[in-house]
Amino acid sequence: MLRRVSGSVADAWSGASYERIAETFASIHDRVVELLGIEPGTRVLDVACGTGGVALRAARAGGDVVGIDISADQLAKARRAADAEGLRVRLDEGDCQELPYREAEFDAVASAFGAIFAADHERTAGELARVCRPGGRLVLTAWEDDDWSAVHAKAGRTFPGDSGAREWAKEEHVRALLGDVFDLDLQRGGWRMEAASGDELWEVVSTSMPPLRAWLAAADEATRTHAEHVYRDFLASGVLERQYIVVLGARR
Ligand SMILES: C[S@@+](CC[C@H](N)C(=O)[O-])C[C@H]1O[C@@H](n2cnc3c(N)ncnc32)[C@H](O)[C@@H]1O
Repeated sequence: MLRRVSGSVADAWSGASYERIAETFASIHDRVVELLGIEPGTRVLDVACGTGGVALRAARAGGDVVGIDISADQLAKARRAADAEGLRVRLDEGDCQELPYREAEFDAVASAFGAIFAADHERTAGELARVCRPGGRLVLTAWEDDDWSAVHAKAGRTFPGDSGAREWAKEEHVRALLGDVFDLDLQRGGWRMEAASGDELWEVVSTSMPPLRAWLAAADEATRTHAEHVYRDFLASGVLERQYIVVLGARR
């Protein structure tokens, strides 16, 4: 039914072993689903669903779930995971800046570290509001601007079409985007990924974080060598910790 989304954004989010990162988000996905307040039959939309961390949990909770993502590769993994459990989840390929759904079609709309990456924040926020029914809930997560963000710059990494995703962790930005239509509450949370060594952590990060993997693959040798040195140095302890914001919205 939906048009195939192609191009550099979908490519940048494809081809990595992202499911290994998604596993480390388990407690965050649990938190998002709890906050969505799902009851049997609740119509749930998981925006930028990736490998299905929120969508599958929402289906287990009894929700009538749709997941949408720009990457066919991510969706294929979500499909396999849902089928392996016999979960009924509809998965659509599409862009969250142009959601192919009716107004007020969902009781609960979620996006865990997903919608924040779309280029046009206003348009994305408008779409999240449009598809959420009055009285419905919105739950978003966003990474804060932190040492891990700074290390990208130090590594010389550039983000073509960088959407300023970390702006979504700033209260005034979120209120400007969503405050007209949602009553908002912001909470904080922490995430930690630990490996047996810095080398092991670098292996996971460089192969499983899709945009980083894609950027390294496209970089020339000198750029890649410099970046690897910077990232390995930062990850040498074998631990990566970050802070995130949870945006809770009650649709007016
Ligand atoms: C960090 S992953 C998060 C995936 C999932 N929500 C989770 O919590 O594991 C970001 C996801 O956003 C998707 N994405 C990025 N830009 C998008 C867009 N404009 N529209 C829809 N999905 C997008 C990517 O393909 C990727 O699956």
